[in-house]
Amino acid sequence: MKCTRCHARATINLPSHNAAFCRACFLLYFCRQVERTITKEKMFTRDERVLVAVSGGKDSLALWDVLITQGYQTEGLYLDLGIDAYSSLSRQKAEHFARLHHVPLRIVPLAEEAVSVPVAARFTQRPPCAACGKMKRYFFDRYAQEGGFTVLATGHNLDDEAARLLANVLHWQMEYLAREKPVLHPTHPKFVRKVRPLYRMSELETAAYAFLRGIDYVIDECPHSHGASQLFYKEILNRIEAHMPGTKLTFVQEFLRSAQSLFVAPDGSPPQECESCGMPAFAPLCSFCRLMHEVERKRRQNRDQSDTDSLPS
Ligand code: AMP
Ligand code: FES
Ligand code: ZN
Repeated sequence: MKCTRCHARATINLPSHNAAFCRACFLLYFCRQVERTITKEKMFTRDERVLVAVSGGKDSLALWDVLITQGYQTEGLYLDLGIDAYSSLSRQKAEHFARLHHVPLRIVPLAEEAVSVPVAARFTQRPPCAACGKMKRYFFDRYAQEGGFTVLATGHNLDDEAARLLANVLHWQMEYLAREKPVLHPTHPKFVRKVRPLYRMSELETAAYAFLRGIDYVIDECPHSHGASQLFYKEILNRIEAHMPGTKLTFVQEFLRSAQSLFVAPDGSPPQECESCGMPAFAPLCSFCRLMHEVERKRRQNRDQSDTDSLPS
């Protein structure tokens, strides 16, 4: 198999694009695709400081790597979720990358700033991913705002987008479909623009980029990984893709081009400011502060209960 661009021996075959590339041409192709997405979708410019949310995994580190090589001004943000070995290993990978590339990385240990994900899950008796998603959204906004950033970039790839789109279509989640865009503009001065520059790059492509660039990333998924449903949707989409290469990209791209604007977010009142932390909120307290209050209440109840249990009878 020969490289579509330079006719040298190809290292990677991309049936979805009807192309194959050698190492150098693949890296060029990947960077150009990401650059084109950033420009076409007006995600950000080289004059802006971009906060990159890095998990230590292949996607977000590949994204950070592309942005650095393309000359964007970046800073990393890593949230230490406190999920045992997974968090310590992923933190090491993010730190290692930042040191190697001489780029700033802000680390936020949730156990110190709020509560760790496992503790939040234990006290609320809900799946860890629920508290995790809430805390990620909150700290992404808070640190972007505190650091004076106007834009936050995440490493969501095409497979993430296609799986989410499929789930939202199957359940006709109109509100989520209305927000399913690679660029989300802020609805409050304390929110920042959220962008997904890898939304057209498949998981196979980001993995190949990370591998060919020698990026050291955490391979294991979070032990609470996304619940079974997202993985199940990804599997189904991979089976369709194997029969009909390019389907994932068409599914996402055509939704954005032809259907996305048909879904309109309900006219709600714009967010107010949370009475407790001052961040935007759709109720007197923002959802993060409601979570913290719930954890605190359950903690107190448990403490009172164990005090009662230890009273001599
Ligand atoms: P996930 O929700 O785990 O699929 O991750 C999607 C994106 O969110 C990643 O590509 C990162 O950009 C970001 N992200 C996930 N976990 C973290 C974390 N612990 N710290 C900072 N960013 C994260
Ligand atoms: Fe959030 Fe696993 S629970 S990354
Ligand atoms: Zn709040």
